[in-house]
Amino acid sequence: MIKTLPNGVKMPQLGIGTFKISESSEAYETVKYALEVGYRHIDTAQIYNNEEMVGQAIKDSKIPREEIFITTKYWGFSNEANMEKAFNESLRKLQTDYVDLYLIHWPNHDEAITARTWAFLEKLYEQKRVRAIGVSNFQKHHMESLLKTAKIVPMMNQVECHPGLSQVPLKAYLDSKNIMMTSYGPLMKGSIFKPPFFDTLDVIAHRHNVSIPNIVIAWGLQRGIFMIPKSVTPSRILENFQSQFIKLSNEEMEAINHLNRGNRVYADPDNTPWGSYRE
Ligand SMILES: NC(=O)c1ccc[n+]([C@@H]2O[C@H](COP(=O)([O-])OP(=O)(O)OC[C@H]3O[C@@H](n4cnc5c(N)ncnc54)[C@H](OP(=O)(O)O)[C@@H]3O)[C@@H](O)[C@H]2O)c1
Repeated sequence: MIKTLPNGVKMPQLGIGTFKISESSEAYETVKYALEVGYRHIDTAQIYNNEEMVGQAIKDSKIPREEIFITTKYWGFSNEANMEKAFNESLRKLQTDYVDLYLIHWPNHDEAITARTWAFLEKLYEQKRVRAIGVSNFQKHHMESLLKTAKIVPMMNQVECHPGLSQVPLKAYLDSKNIMMTSYGPLMKGSIFKPPFFDTLDVIAHRHNVSIPNIVIAWGLQRGIFMIPKSVTPSRILENFQSQFIKLSNEEMEAINHLNRGNRVYADPDNTPWGSYRE
């Protein structure tokens, strides 16, 4: 399933996440197998410490570079020289001369610093060193601040999103600005296998004769969200990929939407320990 970003760039809606796969042989084998299965979208980040292995696996797959969509993310809040250094380092490790989607990993608590970082991404975009640019972990207020100075509207916001945090208001806001959304942490660090989520999801999974992760991934895809489940286990990599072939009814979508509890299993973007605060 391919979706088109606001600037016309095509992006596979289902990708593989690579957070916490920093052991090099594991990162290499995971990406290599995912590409064999059919994934063409890899989500990595400077901070994941695996770009080198992602790049090697892509190279060894012999799949033409232009058939694979790579997202990576800038970590930090530094000056332009250091951002340039970080971006070049990502390119070197990924063995490529462009990135498909480059994201600011987290907003800074000081919006002026976030605006400066965004201006650097805009420059990369204008220089055609990235095909699309976006942000991650932006709440509505972060986006509104950014849009005050942005020359280019972000094409993507990658945020925590799963049945316990369905992000319906944020998604509606992003839709109104023509910004696409990617879900991270779709499996809620295992909480989808526990009440109250398990009960509803298990009934739907049995009805379709698939797994609970399949149902959660299918629910995100059907909402028009990009999904990047992570697994290092070959059977799960394959299983997750098959989620795109599941069609949920409107009632099933509604039942999952009703599981929202506003539960975060990752950091709250308004209260992270990273970045600096305006005095
Ligand atoms: N932008 C951000 O700040 C941010 C933050 C977090 C994550 N992300 C991105 O989003 C991706 C996905 O999020 P995530 O890694 O946190 O979590 P996730 O995809 O929700 O879950 C990964 C965990 O679920 C297990 N799993 C995967 N498929 C399964 C299946 N079919 N059945 C049972 N268990 C399964 C994995 O185990 P095994 O690996 O052992 O199979 C792993 O422990 C990340 O890898 C990363 O690329 C972005």
